[in-house]
Amino acid sequence: MDLKISASVLNSDMSQLGNEVRRVELAGVHMLHLDVMDGVFVKSITFGDYIQSSLRPHTNLIFDTHLMVNEPTRLIPLFVKAGSDIITIHIESECLPLDTLRLIRSFGIKAGLCIKPNTPAQAVFPFLKEADMILIMTVEPGMGGQEFMTDMLPKIRAIRQEIVRQGLNTDIEVDGGINQKTAQLAQQAGANILVAGSYLFNEGDMGKAVRQLTVDN
Ligand code: DX5
Ligand code: ZN
Repeated sequence: MDLKISASVLNSDMSQLGNEVRRVELAGVHMLHLDVMDGVFVKSITFGDYIQSSLRPHTNLIFDTHLMVNEPTRLIPLFVKAGSDIITIHIESECLPLDTLRLIRSFGIKAGLCIKPNTPAQAVFPFLKEADMILIMTVEPGMGGQEFMTDMLPKIRAIRQEIVRQGLNTDIEVDGGINQKTAQLAQQAGANILVAGSYLFNEGDMGKAVRQLTVDN
């Protein structure tokens, strides 16, 4: 599977969001990772469907919406309207994962299922057929700039093994603490989409940072 980079704008200059999105697109990333936080599921509040919708005309990047919200179901139609190509819900949120994944797919877009560090790999196994992507958190959700938890690598491997065992080709996205070194580890463990936030925005030459993440090792 080809490796893809999904740029998180959480640690960008949000007062210049349109320009920041154009910058990541020019740097050669494939997807835009939009971290939606509701102040309940995680402490902070970021942005919602209005801001996502205002970004839509400024880029052709795939909108990869990560809903860190307690009640994702009622928000799904709003984010579909705001241009999401993939909507990812948390298995730990207050929803029925199966119904919610089916609801997302019913809009003709991709459905993702996310698990936090303390949730075991096995929790997602019953839902693999209903998900286009499994998002594995490698930090506690809530903020950017944290350190990659290497003890999540066996979880990535276990989920990739189960995907193969079930004869599926579900994407595995990894989110949190991705840099040149952890990108390799995550990829070797079976991830094929990497979310990168602070690593891209802290590097002066973002194009170089993207190449460093995608270089074959
Ligand atoms: C954390 C978010 C991540 C975060 C990644 O709650 O879901 O997407 O922005 O940022 P870095 O790459 O800085 O860990
Ligand atoms: Zn995220």
